[in-house]
Amino acid sequence: MNEHVQRPPAEIRYAAELARLRESDTDARPPGWALSLRAARRFVLGDEKLGISRKFVGDPSLIDRSLVSLATNRGLMLVGEPGTAKSLLSELLAAAVSGTSTLTIQGGAATTEDQIKYSWNYALLVAEGPSTRSLVAAPLLRGMAEGKVVRFEEITRCPLEVQDCLLSPLSDRVLAVPELSGPESMVFAKEGFTVIATANTRDRGVNEMSAALKRRFNFETVFPIADFETELLLVEAEAAALLKRSGVEAPPRRDVLEVLVTAFRELREGQTARGDATDRLSGVMSTAEAVSVAHAVGLRGWFLRGEPGTAADLVSCLAGTAAKDNPEDLAKLRRYLEQRRRHGDQWQALYEARHLLPG
Ligand SMILES: Nc1ncnc2c1ncn2[C@@H]1O[C@H](COP(=O)(O)OP(=O)(O)O)[C@@H](O)[C@H]1O
Ligand SMILES: [Mg+2]
Repeated sequence: MNEHVQRPPAEIRYAAELARLRESDTDARPPGWALSLRAARRFVLGDEKLGISRKFVGDPSLIDRSLVSLATNRGLMLVGEPGTAKSLLSELLAAAVSGTSTLTIQGGAATTEDQIKYSWNYALLVAEGPSTRSLVAAPLLRGMAEGKVVRFEEITRCPLEVQDCLLSPLSDRVLAVPELSGPESMVFAKEGFTVIATANTRDRGVNEMSAALKRRFNFETVFPIADFETELLLVEAEAAALLKRSGVEAPPRRDVLEVLVTAFRELREGQTARGDATDRLSGVMSTAEAVSVAHAVGLRGWFLRGEPGTAADLVSCLAGTAAKDNPEDLAKLRRYLEQRRRHGDQWQALYEARHLLPG
């Protein structure tokens, strides 16, 4: 894949790291796995000695439990608030375990079984009838046939009966293709096949998922980053990388990012760092959102004025992201800026720029 791709999958982005891990990996691995559990853990959490970058920030025991789940015959369900890196983690785990993260089903109200299991090439189907040639494998069938991790994003957005087509693949490890006859009518899962699903707590709950399907998964909750410094460093590193790729030569300013991350945390938690109550926005104020706002702030500064983004750029960007189309959030944001609770140049600049909020 070439440099023009906006976001190559993890196995391409980190191909060199994966190759290095494979070379030095002498530990036992579960059948069908591309790496041992310990090497997969290093891939996700980083290892300075081997030059492996840290990609997911969080509790190492979450990664251990997740990897162990994947080695059992259950699937892994990552649950949490939007923007807590569930999708990223599922991509990284799939790339580590199977060497590929692209067998992905995107869940939604209109997701059908065809998009999950298989469909047909209709020209061939009409000409030749159902055959392995006219069969078009979707991610689930491919993952089973090839022994790979299948990712199921936002599974709870799918209709319940569609979710349930995972039942026999996960319990009996087989997928029936009744249109074919003979041995081809049953696809048996190869070693290495498993499913990583993600679900947002803001969507229809996992509670509605059938009990039978719930039993086929081990659940793990992914929490927002607890520590301020850790979140700040992550936002800085991610925003700097995004800005560089966007052709912005000025790295983000640390003092502006401090304001940004602090404001996001306060508006997310409804509490200032000192413990005073403040308004809590109903929109998503996640780390992922903070990264994308930091990116936008840097773009504004650079492409509009040829300098790094400032706190005033932050106000402009917040209106469209944090407040979205919710007028109440906009009012809360305005109140937050009017309270002028903090000192420091960038905070004053932030307060001064509150007239940039629309309305
Ligand atoms: N704990 C974390 N570790 C690494 N990146 C994180 C973390 N939390 C949030 N992020 C940021 O969020 C982005 C991924 O968000 P995403 O996986 O889409 O979240 P979700 O699927 O939970 O909504 C990452 O690219 C990174 O910028
Ligand atoms: Mg996601």
